[in-house]
Amino acid sequence: MRRMKRFATPIALLALIPACARHAAAPPPPQAATDHATLEHITHLSPTVISGSEPVTDADFELIRAMGAQTIISVDGATPDVERAKKFGLRYVHIPIAYSALNASEEVQLERAAHEIPGTIFVHCHHGLHRGPVAAAVIYAAETGCSGADAAQKLYDAGLPRKYEALHQSLEAFLPGTRILPDPKAVGPLPEIAQRDSLTLAMADIDRSWERLGAARKNNWQPPPDHPDVVPAHEAAIFAELFRETNRLHLADADADMRTRMTHAERFAWALNAALEASDHAAANTAADAIAQSCTDCHNIHRNN
Ligand code: HEC
Repeated sequence: MRRMKRFATPIALLALIPACARHAAAPPPPQAATDHATLEHITHLSPTVISGSEPVTDADFELIRAMGAQTIISVDGATPDVERAKKFGLRYVHIPIAYSALNASEEVQLERAAHEIPGTIFVHCHHGLHRGPVAAAVIYAAETGCSGADAAQKLYDAGLPRKYEALHQSLEAFLPGTRILPDPKAVGPLPEIAQRDSLTLAMADIDRSWERLGAARKNNWQPPPDHPDVVPAHEAAIFAELFRETNRLHLADADADMRTRMTHAERFAWALNAALEASDHAAANTAADAIAQSCTDCHNIHRNN
């Protein structure tokens, strides 16, 4: 068994950290956006805990550095761009979380981040609306001694939505300092790239491709203006392959309903590909609507949120 060390009892920890209210100072004014930065929903929970969307361009990483961060935490399923972050002197830590309630190990990892990572932290998921802000709020609570409920209120005051009931409830119930944290010397530092459940990773890829297709659809099935390299028919083929690969590689032992649904999603994706090859936009729209429905239906039944 791994050796566990109690960092401090909850009471002692509370004595060490200043009262929650003292950290309620106004966040610094937003920084001027760098050219071509795509970061969205930048939310300052405190001067040292910031959340937002996934950094994609060099300008995004520059902007994160300009906000004073030395460390980026991704709570998204996709593999973080560790190498690009390094170019900007930024370190990545990967703590993927789902849209469902935070589990004990996720809370422990986030609380470890609050204690083990010095300086300013930028926390992101994909869009910076749900999982990233919730994780940032847990880190903020763990750093300041605020309750999860107080931290959650800061998110809502900043205009962020409370959409995923279980996820937000687990934040609101979070109390810092009540879990026993492992000794980093025994378990090693927080990971740059977390070992992921392969289905979650595959879904993150499917989600990215689906988003590119959505942008193409908005542009009348032409390459989206901000992604001129995306050829819609080709993207649809990649998308269909992702479903096929997910079924083949990651769902061999899954239940029959899940596999059937994944096969149906793949079939709709090939229909989309064929419609786009034929420049039949009406058929493409029909196929895309069927795909959207298959995402929702499968998530309702098989995704735990
Ligand atoms: C056949 C079932 C099925 C279909 C179809 C499906 N998904 Fe999923 N999806 C899942 C399951 C199951 C999970 C939860 C995986 C896990 O355990 O983390 C998931 C998780 C996700 C996640 C969360 C990944 C993360 O980082 O935690 C995203 C995003 C996602 N799906 C997007 C999509 C989109 C977009 C579509 C349609 C284009 C789609 N999915 C179609 C079953 C499905």
